[in-house]
Amino acid sequence: MIPLISVRGGNRLRGEVFIGGMKNAALPILFATILLRQTVAIENLPAVTDVTTTLRILSDMGARVTWESPTAVQVNAADVDPNALPLNLTTRLRGSSYLLGAELGRFGYAVSGLPGGCDFGNRPLDQHFMIFSALGAEVVPSVGNIRLTAPGGLHGGAVRLSFPSVGATLNGILAGATADGTTMIENAAREPHIVDLANFLNACGAEISGAGTSQIRINGVKNLHGCRHRIIPDMIEAGTYLAAAAATGGHIRLRAVNPDHLEAVTDRLAAMGASIAASEDTVTLTRMLPLRGTDIETLPYPGFPTDMQPQFAPLLCLSEGGGLVYERVWENRFRYLEELRRMGANVISDGLCARFRGGDRLTGTRVCATDLRAGAALLIAGLCAEGETTISEIRHIERGYPDLIGKFRSLGAELRLVTD
Ligand code: UD1
Repeated sequence: MIPLISVRGGNRLRGEVFIGGMKNAALPILFATILLRQTVAIENLPAVTDVTTTLRILSDMGARVTWESPTAVQVNAADVDPNALPLNLTTRLRGSSYLLGAELGRFGYAVSGLPGGCDFGNRPLDQHFMIFSALGAEVVPSVGNIRLTAPGGLHGGAVRLSFPSVGATLNGILAGATADGTTMIENAAREPHIVDLANFLNACGAEISGAGTSQIRINGVKNLHGCRHRIIPDMIEAGTYLAAAAATGGHIRLRAVNPDHLEAVTDRLAAMGASIAASEDTVTLTRMLPLRGTDIETLPYPGFPTDMQPQFAPLLCLSEGGGLVYERVWENRFRYLEELRRMGANVISDGLCARFRGGDRLTGTRVCATDLRAGAALLIAGLCAEGETTISEIRHIERGYPDLIGKFRSLGAELRLVTD
């Protein structure tokens, strides 16, 4: 039996929704617990399968994991053994690459499976290896997994990334936190999850400064101690609900968010005709005017996030005038357009840029979630389509959206889980 999400279009979203903790901050922070022998408590974890997979990897490796509540967990990684790594689980998520930095920092060697996650074309790790090598680690040739060792111990080093890679910056922080000496990362990524990892490690006694800027300095410390940390709100989950509300001509309030992190997204929504109001931890969106077309270019933070690019596609389909979308982070992030076309989208793409004609009428049909955010985009399209849309491969969506069906239904969407 294949689980599907069925969406009946036509309802405007209305009401309030609480946004969970950020998946892309939770994964590196959970893997960072490997650096410690003491217990840490992590709050505001999103209930998504990427988090449960990460916790299973940690507990299979020997960590003690105790739930305090459905969104808070205690982890003690004192007895973790990299050789006990469940290789089959690491291929389920891209975030498993953070095992490399954390294990190197704790043990001076690392084992990881080949990281999986969404398929956006080539997803290289050369920038990660450049940092590890600057810190004294080298790759050990092996088949079916990744092995690193630092024969002379891990020491500080200086690197300049050729692209502000989020993953490489996080791995550099993980490896540098307990290395001997100072590590400098130039052209570092500036995403909020980089700041969250640095804040977590600093609360454990690390000395990391400059996170959130392009230059990060890490003074290695000998020991880290336990702490309690609350994961930041998920700006992509938040952005997805805003895009859905704007697409349906709705009126919603997001609770427990950081409006600063959402600026690139709310700017585009305002350009398309939505009214936005923000307070310290809420964002309210109302869309009464017709949707206007706009152009979008994905860029590293604080630019428009690549993880929100697909969710804007239905808005551009429905807008007057359409627009261009330039994907500048990934080489192949338009696979979902084929599915959207089956719903009536008029869009052409050369793989790097997509041109939306606008003024489309979307019609429900059966579509396939080609990856996590593509699934969210199809769901938004379904909310605006005539008739019923059924989405398959929903395991991708479950990796990143906590209680997706419950939250959308609470906003008035007609959405249910069905089986084929
Ligand atoms: C990226 C996004 C992140 C998003 C995640 C999942 C950016 C800058 N990063 O993070 O916001 O949450 O995807 O969708 O928006 N690259 C290399 N060599 C490397 C590492 C990366 O060439 O060693 C290139 C990639 O091919 C890609 C770009 O750098 O073109 C961004 O990669 P990176 O930021 O590392 O990806 P993620 O950490 O997965």
